[in-house]
Amino acid sequence: MKEFLPIDEGTLVEDTEVDCDLFIKSHVNGIPRYVLFCHGGEMFRGDRRRQLIEDNIKKLYIYANSHKTFKDYQEKNLKKILTDKGKSSNEKSTIVYSVAKNLTQDLLNNTKSGAKVERVTDWVDTTVDYILRDEKSFSNLIKVTAHDYQTYTHSVNLSVLGLLFGKYLNLGSNCLRCLGTGMLLHDFGKIQIPKKILNKHGSLTSDEFKVIIKHPEAGVTLLTDENGISEESLQIVAQHHENYDGTGYPSGIGGNDIHLFARVTRIIDTYDALTTNRIYRNSLKPFSALVEMRETMENCLDIELFKEFVCFLGDADPRKRTYENYGNREPDQEANTIYN
Ligand SMILES: [Fe+2]
Ligand SMILES: [Fe+2]
Repeated sequence: MKEFLPIDEGTLVEDTEVDCDLFIKSHVNGIPRYVLFCHGGEMFRGDRRRQLIEDNIKKLYIYANSHKTFKDYQEKNLKKILTDKGKSSNEKSTIVYSVAKNLTQDLLNNTKSGAKVERVTDWVDTTVDYILRDEKSFSNLIKVTAHDYQTYTHSVNLSVLGLLFGKYLNLGSNCLRCLGTGMLLHDFGKIQIPKKILNKHGSLTSDEFKVIIKHPEAGVTLLTDENGISEESLQIVAQHHENYDGTGYPSGIGGNDIHLFARVTRIIDTYDALTTNRIYRNSLKPFSALVEMRETMENCLDIELFKEFVCFLGDADPRKRTYENYGNREPDQEANTIYN
């Protein structure tokens, strides 16, 4: 018997062609039966939605092997989904995150797939519009970020947190686009690192470390010829392991020679690595992660920006400020707790 997967009725967009068969589940003598509701390629029109609402049907089903087709459908229709007034912010955030996961997995698994950057920039553009429009996107997006570390979920977490933090810093939409794209692609060079080194449990030998630290430059080389990637996004890929005190890699540059977006990425990259479960250790709670960063990495990070990040995390209702003067203000209460 074929396997089926549930999908929320709310994730379908009216007047679009759904590329896979949709089923309704019923029970006959206690045995589940799946009845075809809409053929793949058929238009999902308003009358079909009304029929579902009248029958109080909230879940539809697809063949399990159509899962990828359905994710691609959501990616293609993301803009419509995010501007649909009938969908909750929570539903929208879940879809934003799952579309990003799908496309990042594709990027990391299939290096030759065409239109790599275009898919990322389309997602970032749509997500930036959503974040700027919907105040509730902050808490809902933070809620859906993954807690188990994988290279692709890590990249999506970074991009989502980076966009929200960028909004908090009052960056304009163009800056947000560069930031979100660069953060989603920051570890792209890792596709060239053998899996046995990347997923190693114990500490790395010096030869293995030499392989790992090549990933920023490898990422830049792989992405430079891609259409549509900005210089600022490439700076993130190139500089996200540079430290504020000049002890990072690959170039050992420091201070404001490191691009602002790469300094933001250094902070969030570390924060996400600490707050997600790894093979070799459990995740830390946000507060403990921030304390650890404060105690062990203070010189590596742009500390004024880090204080802003601490305030941002403790503030689900972003305040208006300009990022140019982020260093000239009193740290907030949350920052004081971390700093006392
Ligand atoms: Fe990295
Ligand atoms: Fe990373």
